[in-house]
Amino acid sequence: MTKKYGIALLAAGKGTRLKLDCPKVLAPLLGQNLIDFIFEQIAQLEKKLKLNFQLGVVVGHKAAEVQAYLEKWKSQLDSHLQFCLQDQQLGTAHALQCFLQDKDHLKTDYTLILCGDTPLLTADLLNVMFERLEQAPQLDGLIASFQTAQPHGYGRILRLADHKVAIVEEKEASEEQKKITEVNSGVYLVKTALLEKFVKNINNKNQSGEYYLTDLFEQGNFTAHLFEGSEEFLGVNDQQQLQLARKILLNRKVQQLREQGVYIEDSDSLSLDWQVRIEKGAQIYSQAVLKGKTVIAQGARIGENCYIADSLIGQDCEILPFSHLQQVQVAASCTIGPYARLRPGTQLESKVKIGNFVEVKKSHLHQGVKVSHLSYVGDAEVGEQSNLGCGFITCNYDGQQKHQTQIGKKTFIGSDCQVIAPIKIGDSCFIAAGSTINKNLESGSFAIARSQQENKKGLAAKFLPPRADQD
Ligand code: UD1
Ligand code: CA
Repeated sequence: MTKKYGIALLAAGKGTRLKLDCPKVLAPLLGQNLIDFIFEQIAQLEKKLKLNFQLGVVVGHKAAEVQAYLEKWKSQLDSHLQFCLQDQQLGTAHALQCFLQDKDHLKTDYTLILCGDTPLLTADLLNVMFERLEQAPQLDGLIASFQTAQPHGYGRILRLADHKVAIVEEKEASEEQKKITEVNSGVYLVKTALLEKFVKNINNKNQSGEYYLTDLFEQGNFTAHLFEGSEEFLGVNDQQQLQLARKILLNRKVQQLREQGVYIEDSDSLSLDWQVRIEKGAQIYSQAVLKGKTVIAQGARIGENCYIADSLIGQDCEILPFSHLQQVQVAASCTIGPYARLRPGTQLESKVKIGNFVEVKKSHLHQGVKVSHLSYVGDAEVGEQSNLGCGFITCNYDGQQKHQTQIGKKTFIGSDCQVIAPIKIGDSCFIAAGSTINKNLESGSFAIARSQQENKKGLAAKFLPPRADQD
């Protein structure tokens, strides 16, 4: 019979040392929150072990907020996810007691204990814990430990006689014990029945007045499995550690992308959210900021200092430096920028050209449309191959409401034209430069709407100031 496993994920702490308004596990990290990273690894572990878990997340500080945020994981995991309320945060052992109050959590053979503030843990590493315990069934459980040159803040592993271990917390440690560099990662795999039995014996007679889960390991037959690396176990307690976790995760992602054939010019200056997807053959230049659920397709080039959030950039597009794109869809082979701004709801079909200082909002531009310079296109649909000249403006707002502009295909609009919406302009129209258009235009029409020019010979002198080189 295969064994049953529970996971206790501790996430009730306030995160005082982090000094943020949000609960610690909801600290922002690469476009998602700190705790999402451990959930991703739990999902991986499910796949790796072909198992599902009795998963209990212990929530406490701003419990409703944490719980609401984590609801999304219910549909993304095979495991049965429940929340366990820890009203007062009396320590990690107390958090475990809250977890065990749920009868479902007593029905498992082993419980894996994880903290919500260790975003670098990997499923591979957790898998080692399972394998190790499988090989040593006489053990009551395992502590994952690692070596670090900066043990400050971590519980120190005391290796005692008869292969026994104990953990001494920073606050309780003697000067000698503080020198120990093997530390507790906060990851444990323990026989559930013994966990329930031993956790009740833990008291809070220590410097913090907290129930330390680490006191559990003095009872029973436990050992510490020393892992080689230390990076994976980084606990995020302050903003410096949050920044360090971000750097390490970003490096992991960059390395992966490079291996897949993405060109990244300068990983030091790149800002890349965790969910961003970049396809093979894309090129990303210095200082790019790629956020949210952005996808960059094959062969696209993202120039220096571009900001792209929640957008789809099609194959072979070129986004020139300093462009700002948010919630837009760009089909293949478009050229955008430099200094373009594409706002939410914009959809560009293939081969569209958006030039410098052009703003587009909530508009659909069909194949081959060109808006090359200094324009505003809002609430518009523009048919294929149409050209909107320099300084073109859709006057879409009357002070109260937004109105639509429709422009057909193969229409040419000269420089410095305005169209006053709502308005419909047909296919293959020609609008002369400098026109303000407020009447609909049938397909094939020519429109000019500007005042007549008068030329008055020699009159300029009247208006010009005297020139310095004149007597
Ligand atoms: C803990 C360990 C320490 C270990 C370190 C690894 C204890 C007593 N100490 O210290 O040995 O080296 O992790 O990172 O366990 N939490 C609750 N309820 C509480 C208190 C904490 O749910 O009442 C949660 C926190 O949200 C956090 C986790 O437990 O996710 C660990 O708590 P934290 O305060 O960060 O413990 P450390 O001081 O890091
Ligand atoms: Ca911690």
